[in-house]
Amino acid sequence: MLRDIEGKDDLITLVDAFYGRVQQDEVLGPIFNNIIQDWDKHLNIMYGFWNSVLFGAEGYKGQAVAKHVAIDQRVRLEQQHYDRWIELWAALVSAHFSGPNAELIQTKAQAMLQLIQFKVDYSRSGKFLA
Ligand code: HEM
Repeated sequence: MLRDIEGKDDLITLVDAFYGRVQQDEVLGPIFNNIIQDWDKHLNIMYGFWNSVLFGAEGYKGQAVAKHVAIDQRVRLEQQHYDRWIELWAALVSAHFSGPNAELIQTKAQAMLQLIQFKVDYSRSGKFLA
């Protein structure tokens, strides 16, 4: 019986497992390994991001959507990348946790992914919605 995500330590477990898997993934690995120079820094940003999304904690002050629009200008983000991202996320979450927060973090990831994809695609039309 898996337990639920209860706090930042659990988010650290999840984020570490996810990006450990991403780095080795044939679809996503090349993108992340190309762009990210400092993995410790990226992981710390992601702990803060999820801590704010899931628990309303302060700590993430970035522009997550704009970052991905910029990434897309370097490496074109395709449907296969989004599909793979959410597939790995869903698999990692359900391998480690179960409960309301585990469900919530899946829903939040899906919503964020749709927002990123919408704005990335829209930005290709020459416009950018901040
Ligand atoms: C196709 C799917 C995705 C790809 C290829 C991707 C790739 C990346 C890469 C390479 C970075 C590092 C950027 C840098 O350091 O310059 C990054 C940062 C980030 N990603 Fe993604 N990502 C994807 C989807 C998502 C999703 C679905 C979420 C949220 C649920 C997300 C949240 C973030 C956040 C919060 C950051 C940190 C931005 C910052 O520095 O403030 N990403 N992503």
